[in-house]
Amino acid sequence: MTHESGHTFDKEYWERHWHKDQAEAPGSMGSNPPNPHLVREVGGLAPGTALDAGCGAGAEAIWLASQGWQVTAVDISAEALARAAGRAEAGGVAERVRWVEADLGVWEPEGRFELVTTHYAHPAMPQLDFYDRIAGWVAPGGTLLIVGHLHSPGGEGHGHRPAAEASVTAEAVAARLDAAEWRVAVAEERHRALTGHDGRRVELQDVVVRAVRQG
Ligand SMILES: C[S@@+](CC[C@H](N)C(=O)[O-])C[C@H]1O[C@@H](n2cnc3c(N)ncnc32)[C@H](O)[C@@H]1O
Repeated sequence: MTHESGHTFDKEYWERHWHKDQAEAPGSMGSNPPNPHLVREVGGLAPGTALDAGCGAGAEAIWLASQGWQVTAVDISAEALARAAGRAEAGGVAERVRWVEADLGVWEPEGRFELVTTHYAHPAMPQLDFYDRIAGWVAPGGTLLIVGHLHSPGGEGHGHRPAAEASVTAEAVAARLDAAEWRVAVAEERHRALTGHDGRRVELQDVVVRAVRQG
């Protein structure tokens, strides 16, 4: 899939992205706190096994590990994973996270997880197909938490402009979950603001879907 600006969201794109990202810069995805939707939606769950799909520099995987989850964190970028592993080491949770460098479009886990989560990952495949794929990795009784972007023309993303093709609505994500198999607990679009590159205020329209696979 080619982005509107002419590139593809392949490994080379993401390695370049992470190479350029300065962890110490304001708004860097390399030093961000854990996603607030994850903290809100998962904070009350009993920890078990978790998958973070497209973990980037690891803030969410590390937060999950700090809450007692045993985490598998997958990303296509070696650069991002190296940074994430360093942060986990520094945070004292390294033994609870397994970092996997892989393309989520083809990678298959060995088992199922009690929690599968993803935050703004947009691989080189249709966004809703990607969500279908990771939803299949949730164990019976387990939780799926999807945090995505709703694209607004001219808007800014988490350090970059969200790509139109990565944009989804909460309704579209929830509609892909078979009602016979899933209980959708949350399907919302939520606005938030954060500090982006150059210290600028960035407005985000986040899409948050939490669903439980019937056991
Ligand atoms: C916008 S970043 C978000 C990173 C992190 N989840 C966060 O919220 O800060 C998207 C991440 O997805 C990863 N990614 C993109 N395509 C992927 C693929 N096919 N397989 C695995 N990871 C991928 C990128 O390397 C990048 O780290």
